[in-house]
Amino acid sequence: MKLSLNRDLSARFLRLITLLREGASGERAAAELGVSRVAVWKMVKKLEEWGYGIEKGRKGYRIASEPAFSPFKASKIVFETQLFQQFVFFKEVDSTNKVARELSEAGEAVVMAERQTAGRGRLGRQWMSERGGLYFSMALSPGLPVSEVPKLTLTAGVAVAEALSFANAKLKWPNDVLIDGKKVCGILSEVVGEDLSVRVVVGIGINVSNPVPDDVPAVNLRQLGYEVGILDVFEPVMQRFSQRYIQLISGEWEKIREKWMELSDTIGRRVKVSVSGKNYEGVAVGIDSDGALLIDNGGLKGLKRVFSGECFYMK
Ligand code: BTN
Repeated sequence: MKLSLNRDLSARFLRLITLLREGASGERAAAELGVSRVAVWKMVKKLEEWGYGIEKGRKGYRIASEPAFSPFKASKIVFETQLFQQFVFFKEVDSTNKVARELSEAGEAVVMAERQTAGRGRLGRQWMSERGGLYFSMALSPGLPVSEVPKLTLTAGVAVAEALSFANAKLKWPNDVLIDGKKVCGILSEVVGEDLSVRVVVGIGINVSNPVPDDVPAVNLRQLGYEVGILDVFEPVMQRFSQRYIQLISGEWEKIREKWMELSDTIGRRVKVSVSGKNYEGVAVGIDSDGALLIDNGGLKGLKRVFSGECFYMK
């Protein structure tokens, strides 16, 4: 099941939900929304499809029950950021990153799913995506050269860690968000298009109450004692992301870099970073103005700069 909303349609649904909480006739709802009664009837059907219980009587419609998770409320959060033109929600999809790539040509979009059947992780891995987690992807056209895309991934990490600051979330380079040393969120950026017109899909997976794999050090918010809903997490993440994204595209990367360093779990540790079969070992001392991790291996050639790869903490 799929729901696709633009800003206007989202606003219309939200207005209808507000009206029908009190109860309203089809005629009144149509007049308030500036649409036909048939259009109202179709919208009511859509609300029912997405879990709203609607009483229909001689006086019209009334919402009797609301779903625990409403994609219409999620769309409100998306459009309040002013960054996106489209929101697409799926009950189940293969990968929100894959769909966002396809949509990216048409403009900025957010794609979200209750469950993914082929969630993509970094380095070609799978991302387990059972119901209960937050899975979404943002299709963005930041107007940055490809070489600056790592900054966007780091920016997304900062936004998530800030949104999860109630749990003292930290950042592990390049883009894991950890709580108590365990992974609670993964971020996968994929570049679409070329060079100056580059579009980027930033996919974020946050373990809220979904089962997490037990062969890796991962955790969900519920296991940590945080009984929060998907939208309780999505809202601050989107708010923080839109603020930080605007900073990034306005040339204020330095502020983001400073925040990344402040929230970092990696800086000061001895690390080994594997990049295309090569290993770089040393102490992580910072990230530079391009978003590269700086590793001090004690060599005479100065600090090693790495832009991507897998980072292991060494004893
Ligand atoms: C990682 O390996 O740490 C990155 C995981 C990214 C997972 C998210 S879930 C939403 C989006 N859709 C995908 O297929 N992957 C990302």
